Amino acid sequence: MSKSTDFYTKRTLEAWDEAAPIHASINAALHEKVADPNFNNLNRDFDSLVNRFEVSNKSVVQVCCNNGIDLLSVKKKGAGRCLGIDGSKAFVDQAIGLAQAAGHDDIEFFHSDIYDLPDVFQGSFDIAMITVGVLGWMPDLTRFMGICSSLLKDGGILLIEELHPILNMYEEGNPSNIDGSYFRKEPFIESDGLDYFSYKKYDGKENYSFPHSMADILTAAIDNRLQLLHIKELAYNVGNFCADLEHTENNPPLGVNFAWRKGAV
Ligand SMILES: C[S@@+](CC[C@H](N)C(=O)[O-])C[C@H]1O[C@@H](n2cnc3c(N)ncnc32)[C@H](O)[C@@H]1O
Repeated sequence: MSKSTDFYTKRTLEAWDEAAPIHASINAALHEKVADPNFNNLNRDFDSLVNRFEVSNKSVVQVCCNNGIDLLSVKKKGAGRCLGIDGSKAFVDQAIGLAQAAGHDDIEFFHSDIYDLPDVFQGSFDIAMITVGVLGWMPDLTRFMGICSSLLKDGGILLIEELHPILNMYEEGNPSNIDGSYFRKEPFIESDGLDYFSYKKYDGKENYSFPHSMADILTAAIDNRLQLLHIKELAYNVGNFCADLEHTENNPPLGVNFAWRKGAV
């Protein structure tokens, strides 16, 4: 019998807490970098997408914000109220420190497993955003998209940048090898750490990730009455996973961006 959502997310979040100090030491220069008024960590197409929806003075929530530098990038574009939510307390603490270093201690951060988020933020935001490396941690994608949608005002916009689902077929570090089915349903279970910057392995807590197909993502949005406004597949590395594929002759898409509006038919 399959395990509960809670079973998977609580264990995976412990693995994220464990990774936080490793990421912090790899990214030690960030405290200085974020102080630059022009600091912008967004990948180029996601940056254009954010600009298209004119964030100036708008309220923005980032779901699974990690150390908050993508939200901080949006704040520096002139966004109004900004809230970052993440289930790793250690990453939320880093996000608070980086926002302070950037001179933006008005950015709010909230620590919660996204599936346990209280109702207080419902219907509060013009824009909800998710940047690369989040959907795969969600055991129940339809419920997750419903939670993202619930944070939006009617007519609000959900922006997602993600690894392309086809990458679930590839083995990290061995781009010539297709070693899995695109239609795999069972979770990936790993315990060699979550260092996706240097890809150094360490003996870590077990984490669980879930292969969602393109149809799974689009259906989760349809089921939550989200109207697709934009989709773009990206030929370049957006999340350090199988980045070498960018330079192969028969290159698959590496990333995908979406924009949806809440309140569709
Ligand atoms: C790859 S990182 C996202 C990085 C993102 N691109 C950024 O830097 O803004 C994934 C994040 O999702 C968070 N996360 C994973 N599962 C979660 C859950 N169930 N609830 C809340 N946050 C979760 C992790 O703690 C981690 O910070």
